[in-house]
Amino acid sequence: MSSIDSQRRVLSGMRPTGRLHLGHLYGVIHNWIKLQHEYECYFFVADWHALTTHYENPQFIEESIWDMVIDWLAAGVSPSAATLFVQSRVPEHAELHLLLSMMTPLGWLERVPSYKDMQENLKDREIDTYGFLGYPLLQSADILIYRAGLVPVGADQVAHVELTREVARRFNHLYGKEPDYEDAAKSAIAKMGKKFARLYEDLRRKYQEQGDQESLERAQALLGEQQNISVGDRERLFGYLEGGGKIILPEPQAKLTQAAKMPGLDGRKMSKSYDNIITLREDNDDVSKKIRTMQTDPARVRKTDPGNPELCPVWQFHEIFSDQATRDWVQQGCRSAGIGCLDCKKPVIDVITAELDPIRERARQYESNPDLVRSVIVEGTEKARDMARDTLQDVRQAMGLNYR
Ligand code: TRP
Ligand code: SF4
Repeated sequence: MSSIDSQRRVLSGMRPTGRLHLGHLYGVIHNWIKLQHEYECYFFVADWHALTTHYENPQFIEESIWDMVIDWLAAGVSPSAATLFVQSRVPEHAELHLLLSMMTPLGWLERVPSYKDMQENLKDREIDTYGFLGYPLLQSADILIYRAGLVPVGADQVAHVELTREVARRFNHLYGKEPDYEDAAKSAIAKMGKKFARLYEDLRRKYQEQGDQESLERAQALLGEQQNISVGDRERLFGYLEGGGKIILPEPQAKLTQAAKMPGLDGRKMSKSYDNIITLREDNDDVSKKIRTMQTDPARVRKTDPGNPELCPVWQFHEIFSDQATRDWVQQGCRSAGIGCLDCKKPVIDVITAELDPIRERARQYESNPDLVRSVIVEGTEKARDMARDTLQDVRQAMGLNYR
């Protein structure tokens, strides 16, 4: 496996939060569904991550896992396009986490912004724990064990991918140097043939002496095109370019998810803790009831009072779900008191129920066939595990831990 392949690999995880709602659908799942056809995707349930904050009552995790996986499948995440698995069923994540913990400075973890933030915000929970401090490093292990190149995450998670890059760099620096590294690199260069060897050496010199980024990228592209060097040699030469050793754990990139913020029924962000959600399996009567009872612009006491959509959470739904003609109709009708709030809500109810109808139907089929859901995860887990084992083998080798 080369760094080039790794750039085509996407990995992302979600904590098992139980049934998903519209915020997840628009924030994360639509993005996964798109990526699964463009990249080699690994999506997993981060059940150990849930333990970092909920170790006191882990009983709910099991049900949350299956509820969430059913919603993934029902919404269109496809097991034939993406590999779906559960973190704790791939214990190799834990071994890599342990090995990485040996060389990760404490300060790197203490500086992760979410660490202090969450300690402030979750005052009701005792999270002054080793596991909680280490959770971004567990996330690094999740990513590095698949040598993933791209990690789709929201803005709050970018710092964790940054940490992962630093950890990978440190690992490669410490353990990527084989004893005969220079010689191995030189003989790998020779295998490219005279012309390419000279070009590689030129570009490497330009990058190392002048920091010329373009030369680095050209040299990397050159390596990607070489047919007659082995995977190991290619990795070696990738590392040699930047002056380090062989790249055992490639550095991933965060792929920022441009999440349209989904408003909840009260205009705040949709979130289970605000009790303002519409779940993906909500039936039509409940969707309709929830939207019909939504607060509107408080100035519209009577239908004859004009309103202002900017002050109304229903308008936020129109911004996401309605076409331009409908939005014009709302703006005009609301401000002139030409339409009532129930009229205004009707198209929102129609769009959401139409979107959820097929999802709910598919979820029902998975609910009534739990073995099918289990087998999707068993299959994905096996595939993930093969890859995790391979990486761990290289990691042990590099650290001199391959004895038996
Ligand atoms: N920490 C992420 C969250 O709370 C979930 C997660 C765990 C993750 N491991 C990951 C996301 C690896 C991306 C890659 O949302
Ligand atoms: Fe809100 Fe629509 Fe009523 Fe205006 S007409 S207050 S936008 S629900």
